[in-house]
Amino acid sequence: MSLQKFLATLDTLESEATGAFDAAADADALEANRVRYLGQKSGALKEVQQQMGSIDKVDRPTAGKRLNQFKSSLQAAFDASKERLGGGEDSSFDPTFDPTLPGTRPRVGHVHPITQTISHLMEIMGRMGFEAAEGPEVEDPWHNFVALNIPQDHPARDPLDNFYLATAATNSDDQGGDGSQLLRSQTSTVQIRVMAQNPPPIRIISLGRVYRPDDPDATHFPMFHQMEGLLVDEHVTMANLKTVLRVFATNYLGGDVPIRFRPSFFPFTEPSVEVDFFWNDNWVEFGGAGMVDPAVFEAVGYDPEKVSGFAFGLGVERLCMRRHGVTDIRDLYSGDLRFLRQF
Ligand code: PHE
Repeated sequence: MSLQKFLATLDTLESEATGAFDAAADADALEANRVRYLGQKSGALKEVQQQMGSIDKVDRPTAGKRLNQFKSSLQAAFDASKERLGGGEDSSFDPTFDPTLPGTRPRVGHVHPITQTISHLMEIMGRMGFEAAEGPEVEDPWHNFVALNIPQDHPARDPLDNFYLATAATNSDDQGGDGSQLLRSQTSTVQIRVMAQNPPPIRIISLGRVYRPDDPDATHFPMFHQMEGLLVDEHVTMANLKTVLRVFATNYLGGDVPIRFRPSFFPFTEPSVEVDFFWNDNWVEFGGAGMVDPAVFEAVGYDPEKVSGFAFGLGVERLCMRRHGVTDIRDLYSGDLRFLRQF
């Protein structure tokens, strides 16, 4: 093709294309024209680019220069038209969007309220010198009952009140046990484990799960948590117990929390008490406590003539629920994120 003819073709096409872009009445018409003139597959631009190949070598620089002008001219006409029809670059600009507003924070997972409570309780008790101790959730009757002065025929060992397992015990320290195993019904098992392994003095807490076959309702769940406390030394008294619990309650629940002991019975403490805290104008029971029974000291090889001690067991869910105003224990274990996200 001659240079002259090529340039003439571009002139014609240019006025035709820019005219078509200028005349496009809506986005669809503009798009049709874009395909027709600028389309990558078979648009007019593509066609003239291919014609370049048949131009004489000497004329190519001139032709190429004109072709570039042609291309920019078509592109400019297209852009102007797009802008005019509201389909320009800035069409994504939303005038109601306020960049100064705070953004939406991505949600991050967090620790379960009971786990948060456990950390908090360990922190408070840690400040009073109590170290955290642990024991297994699958226990043998020696740790869960026998060493705690709960003999074979005691009603607390009833299979209806405990989760006995179908498998036989494998622990080597199931002294005189009958080979059965159960999910521990109380964290008092850890008292035995700690004393059996360590000489006095002892100052520990143990926070963990316990299991009892209760029907779930607002205040019962077959699995819950206890905070066990044990302090053994010389000359430990009930007054020490009361002080520790009162300092604890005041720290955890806030304000000055009066505490009250009511006489009770546990096989592993003597005397034994129920522990109430005064909270929101009510006396609320939070657990049991007492002075370690000499029979327990004997079971772990301590001399009850030389040492004395106190122990307590408080309900962790109850503490957490009172502090945060939760009224149904089942909410803690429903897995409902609408509930859990509030903590
Ligand atoms: N283990 C008792 C219970 O589960 C609580 C308790 C712990 C009582 C320590 C006295 C001493 O009810």
